Amino acid sequence: MTETTYSKGLAGVIAAESTICKIDGDKGLLSYRGYTIQDLAENSNFSESAYLLLYGALPTAAQLASFEETLLKYRVLDDALVGVLQALPRDTHPMIALQTVAGAHGSLSPVPAGHSEANVARSIELIAKFPLWVAAWARIKEGKDVIAPRADLGHGQNFLYMLDGDVPDEETGHIFDVCLILHMEHSFNASTFTARVVAATEAPIDASVSAAVGALYGPLHGGANERVLDQLETIPSVEATEQWVMDSLAQKRKVMGMGHRVYRAKDPRSYVLEGFLKTIAEKRGTNDNYEKLKVVESTMDREMRAKNKPIYPNVDFFSGSLYELLGIGTEHFTPIFAIARVVGWTAHILEQWEDNRIYRPKALYTGETSLSWKPVGDRG
Ligand SMILES: CC(C)(COP(=O)(O)OP(=O)(O)OC[C@H]1O[C@@H](n2cnc3c(N)ncnc32)[C@H](O)[C@@H]1OP(=O)(O)O)[C@@H](O)C(=O)NCCC(=O)NCCS
Repeated sequence: MTETTYSKGLAGVIAAESTICKIDGDKGLLSYRGYTIQDLAENSNFSESAYLLLYGALPTAAQLASFEETLLKYRVLDDALVGVLQALPRDTHPMIALQTVAGAHGSLSPVPAGHSEANVARSIELIAKFPLWVAAWARIKEGKDVIAPRADLGHGQNFLYMLDGDVPDEETGHIFDVCLILHMEHSFNASTFTARVVAATEAPIDASVSAAVGALYGPLHGGANERVLDQLETIPSVEATEQWVMDSLAQKRKVMGMGHRVYRAKDPRSYVLEGFLKTIAEKRGTNDNYEKLKVVESTMDREMRAKNKPIYPNVDFFSGSLYELLGIGTEHFTPIFAIARVVGWTAHILEQWEDNRIYRPKALYTGETSLSWKPVGDRG
């Protein structure tokens, strides 16, 4: 590759081969290991989809049972790590707390880098522990006692229970698990690429995953769904929504939850989330956000098509309003993304180690050349 192939932000650059996830941005298609996201959302569950991403194929009944047993075996909070969380200032951002505890986890029983049975086990352990750490920090942050995990609950159900001590109903547990499936994996996004870059140096998996949490923390990656909700709150009514969109476009203000770097069609995950939001909103008789969102979508469609720049809802467009109806506070939105995405991160780290090569792009140097050093007194 020559310096003339410079691509800002590595946009469009293929940096590795992968069999984990395929995105067709033009057609709006997403699949994990060959299965469409719609198929998995409709028919699979959290542990089965996690197994698929980690191992590359759907499990047999015996494999799934064993995988779920392992996930449960790791559903235990380590006192030492609760101690690490308790030592943090209470105003620590949940993603910083998660990044800290994920890194510290590596020091409890270090596993060296490399594609090994031990790192497959460590992957399952991290998938099991992430919700526990997020829930533990949510409690500690508010000065409350940490709630111990329960082995009789589903993966997502247990997380929601650990947040406030209430066991969510089956429908909420199911919807939440599907939301986790939708967010598990999305190819070479910033956090997954980070995980692979760190793992490629042969740093341990916990350090690689901890770095990925740091990448997801940034508002340009995680967190857009929270900002969609913030925007919806500033729109006084469903009737006022169209004008609000027109004003946003006139003032060149980004409409959150719309547009995507990769998709040039409606994000396939947003169809599933929209379906859940519509159902729950109708059941609860609180349709306002859903109706506002539909006006935002149709107005944006009309206006952006007219400019020949059509943009569509992304995964964040409906999810914040759905989480809100499920009783989940906005402060948990980005950590929930991490609880799901740790599956993709670990699958990618294991794949990276199957045929490892350290990442080393080049920079296009645009600075000075041919300068000569001068004594400090001769400068300025
Ligand atoms: C995701 C995002 C960064 C992609 O940006 P991008 O690749 O530059 O987007 P595009 O190339 O498709 O933009 C085409 C045009 O649509 C506009 N546009 C894109 N997203 C827009 C949005 N959400 N609201 C208003 N206008 C938007 C761009 O400003 C651009 O207009 P211009 O040519 O007059 O400058 C952008 O769409 C965005 O900021 N969305 C809102 C934040 C969000 O939801 N992020 C989560 C992503 S999963």
